[in-house]
Amino acid sequence: MCGIIGVCSGPEKKFSTGEIVYKGLLRLEYRGYDSAGVASVEEGTLRVLKGKGKIAELEKKLGLSKVKGSVVIGHTRWATHGAPSDVNAHPHTDCTGRIAIVHNGIIENYRELKEELVRKGHVFKSETDTEVVAHLIEEFYRSGDKPYEAFKKAISMIKGSFAILAVFADAPSMIFFAKKDSPLVIGLGDGMNLVASDIPALLEYTRRVITLRDGWVGFITKDNVFIEELGKGPVNPADYVRVVEWSLESASKGGYQHFMLKEIHEQPRALLDTLYGLRSDPALKEAAEILAEARRIFITAAGTSYHAGLHFALTVARITGVLVTPFIASEYESYSRVVREGDVLIAVSQSGETMDTLKAARAFKERGARLIAVSNIIDSAIPRESDLPLYTRAGPEIGVAATKTFTTQTLLLSLLAVELAATRGDLLKSEYEEYVGELAKSSEYASKSLAWNEGVAKKVSEMLRLKHSIYYLSRGIGLPTAMEGALKIKEIAYLHAEAYPAGESKHGPIALVEEGFPVVFVVPRDQYYEKLILGNIQEMKARGAWVVGVAPEDTSLRDLFDVFIKVPASSWITTPITHTPPLQLLAYYTSTLKGYDPDKPRNLAKTVTVE
Ligand code: M6R
Repeated sequence: MCGIIGVCSGPEKKFSTGEIVYKGLLRLEYRGYDSAGVASVEEGTLRVLKGKGKIAELEKKLGLSKVKGSVVIGHTRWATHGAPSDVNAHPHTDCTGRIAIVHNGIIENYRELKEELVRKGHVFKSETDTEVVAHLIEEFYRSGDKPYEAFKKAISMIKGSFAILAVFADAPSMIFFAKKDSPLVIGLGDGMNLVASDIPALLEYTRRVITLRDGWVGFITKDNVFIEELGKGPVNPADYVRVVEWSLESASKGGYQHFMLKEIHEQPRALLDTLYGLRSDPALKEAAEILAEARRIFITAAGTSYHAGLHFALTVARITGVLVTPFIASEYESYSRVVREGDVLIAVSQSGETMDTLKAARAFKERGARLIAVSNIIDSAIPRESDLPLYTRAGPEIGVAATKTFTTQTLLLSLLAVELAATRGDLLKSEYEEYVGELAKSSEYASKSLAWNEGVAKKVSEMLRLKHSIYYLSRGIGLPTAMEGALKIKEIAYLHAEAYPAGESKHGPIALVEEGFPVVFVVPRDQYYEKLILGNIQEMKARGAWVVGVAPEDTSLRDLFDVFIKVPASSWITTPITHTPPLQLLAYYTSTLKGYDPDKPRNLAKTVTVE
């Protein structure tokens, strides 16, 4: 969703506040990019620059980075209420033009509040839910409250999800903040303090951060941080400071044309870091014990993370015989109804902030289930609310399309499945060692799979750029990877793509197949499935399909493929790790050949913090 950032700095400042906010917005652009803006307090006056369009275009047009002032806030938008436009862009101001706010989230009761404020004479300029907050603050300020009191009173009246920053022309050294259900992190700098939606925006200035919790409000000045829990009292910021390991380099393109391509190529490193991280963390074994005692196991997530969840469910079924119920997070109501004490939910979310997944997790917890979280972001909302967090160590993922976070999630979840089987006594020692040994080679496998397929992915993309539709078919353990391949090309190359169990294709989807229709077969290394897929390939070819096979180097099917995408001959359990990288490359090159920006696909945002 939207990205917000604010900085407070003194007159002796090392960096220009306008530049900090502008660069921060560029780093947060993956969160939303239909419009942007900044507000600064300069010599007792509030200045707002904003408009529709990408941040770099707005910089040329408006000079966002040129604003001065000891406090500056900025916003990059992913529209929810009100179409992308100059007037709906944040910051939003009150009637006097002396209070400005930026907001990420949704104010659910904005209609009631707006009606009341309009009755009191407030004049609204935009169609957003956000603007109501600026007028509410104004209302309290006008009636005599000091800025912080007015801000707090306004916050206590709003319902919904929010990360809000506010500045007042009359409080030129302070940025006020409030957080509920949308992420917000304070960065403790040298002679300055910052606050932003996400860590990459802060990394150039500091690695010392405080992840704000739901219900916290407060303010920053250049050398002070004040936090309180609304209605409960002050919080000691020092108790929550942590130092993040991510480097600035990890959050920049590092010579690649796009973040997505860089992140695809980072997979070998990310897999290794995740593996080492898990080896030194007792949480994996603890999680396996919790699961072994569970009455029932559910796994939930959205988008790509759901595919990782599906891989876990299929893996557990195969090596333990235990049924894991996977479900799409936004559908949680149908599943949470049946939950009872003794059940366990695994919630998978790279960002740890996806609202659908958070809601599912809360609904299960309320009914007595235990919660295990799998995330890439330490201290994010879902891990924080869980009984036990498990972390991938993929580093920051800036491209909107999930890549390295998917393969690292599947590595973590495969290891968890193997630990669960071992804890339950379902595996022979030799079987356990074989699976763990194969998973330990994940980095090597991903590395080979990438090195072998860059060229062929470019060639296949030359064909795919001309197509309107594509199928991704597989069976068994290959299915989540096929689904991930289809999602990837759909989101960044805008190609209509569907994934099906190959056996299901003859029950309807095959009707679309005609001469030249592209079908990608994801063939896991498994004799049983290979035999079944052979029949499905023949069915497709008989109807003129153009067949791309992503299959192990020793497959018996290679002569049937029009294009063979060769991946390492490893165990079935590493299928997402060996087979996904070339599918990511296919999506990437098809997108760029069609002239799109794969880092910022239309209508999408990296972290979806609305339901
Ligand atoms: O941060 P999360 O893993 O919870 O995000 C879930 C989905 O929104 C995400 O995977 C989305 O589908 C990506 N655009 C996939 O590339």
